[in-house]
Amino acid sequence: MPPTKKAGILGATGTVGQRFILLLANHPQFAIHALGASSRSAGKPYFEATKWKQSSPIPDNVKKLVVKECVAEEFSECDVVFSGLDADVAGDIELAFLKANLVVFSNAKNYRRDPAVPLIVPTVNTSHLALIPHQRALHSLSKGFIITNANCSTTGLVVPLKALQDAFGPLDRVLVQTMQAISGAGYPGVPSLDIIDNVVPFISGEEEKMEWETLKILGDLDTSATAFTPLAETRVSATCNRVPVIDGHTMSVSLSFARRPAPEPEDVARAMRDYTCEAQVLGCYSAPGRAIVVTEEQDRPQPRLDRDVEGGQTVTVGRIRNCNVLDIKFTLLVHNTVLGAAGSSVLNAEVAVAKGLI
Ligand SMILES: NC(=O)c1ccc[n+]([C@@H]2O[C@H](COP(=O)([O-])OP(=O)(O)OC[C@H]3O[C@@H](n4cnc5c(N)ncnc54)[C@H](OP(=O)(O)O)[C@@H]3O)[C@@H](O)[C@H]2O)c1
Repeated sequence: MPPTKKAGILGATGTVGQRFILLLANHPQFAIHALGASSRSAGKPYFEATKWKQSSPIPDNVKKLVVKECVAEEFSECDVVFSGLDADVAGDIELAFLKANLVVFSNAKNYRRDPAVPLIVPTVNTSHLALIPHQRALHSLSKGFIITNANCSTTGLVVPLKALQDAFGPLDRVLVQTMQAISGAGYPGVPSLDIIDNVVPFISGEEEKMEWETLKILGDLDTSATAFTPLAETRVSATCNRVPVIDGHTMSVSLSFARRPAPEPEDVARAMRDYTCEAQVLGCYSAPGRAIVVTEEQDRPQPRLDRDVEGGQTVTVGRIRNCNVLDIKFTLLVHNTVLGAAGSSVLNAEVAVAKGLI
């Protein structure tokens, strides 16, 4: 069966936009229908407008599509609009698309804090989609809505935290140090003279995002499905670094549990291996077979070797061991432009289709 839903991509020429194109090229439900970018790109065929940086070529059916301005009228036929827009412009453009009754899956930070906008990592909290009827009522919309996905680093962190919270109850403290790939900064991103032979111990706004987004994602939706209650009992402290890796964010995590005695490393590994999410239960096309892959090797995960496991839609965890200061520590890896960005939006949209929201 050919795909039945028409998809638009905003910011289609950028790092996240290119990933959307690859993920949707042969998708069974969504067909790429319209591409949007800035006025620098609008009017050009896609292959001329973009600086293609992916290892697979531009899909044939996309190469010659003419890039449009990001205005809602140009996307009115789309059943779903995926946005990889720069945060400087995403606020106004995505709001205009919402007001035009369109369905928007955003990667930008602009609406993540909005109390009526779900912040969803598709292998963690798709239950938060239940707020959509409330959001539609607020904006008097019949079919449109907006959902954001999390910052790429937050996305990697919350998947194992969710597995541990489900298995062992509330987390007390979480300390995380990131080693983030340069593709996380978009294109052209970090200048080569800043990053080759170097580590940059600062990424603007990133630590704050990891610290508060985690609490909204792992928190509850109230019984009337009209408001989120962020976690109150867990404290998160993040330190973010940019490293000379192309794709894949690696993180060192140490954490403590509220319960005593704390679980042992083998209990933690089992809980992560056993963890399943709603997207898997619903049989969504892009859902990973394993939401968390636990490695046994002492020197894994590594970005070059592990970022494409499960098509980049999983989080790989290794080196689970006792921590002398908190309870447990481990290393994790997430593909920042797949599960950390475009892959989250696509899987969120598949879940929304399965739930009859699109
Ligand atoms: N890279 C990641 O790993 C990652 C992960 C999670 C979230 N995000 C978020 O995803 C978004 C996109 O990131 P990115 O890394 O893909 O950035 P990027 O490579 O810089 O791409 C930005 C896109 O926005 C478009 N754009 C810029 N100004 C515009 C305007 N005035 N009107 C319409 N379109 C405009 C650009 O089009 P032109 O080519 O025409 O300029 C381009 O398509 C950002 O909000 C970012 O924070 C990124």
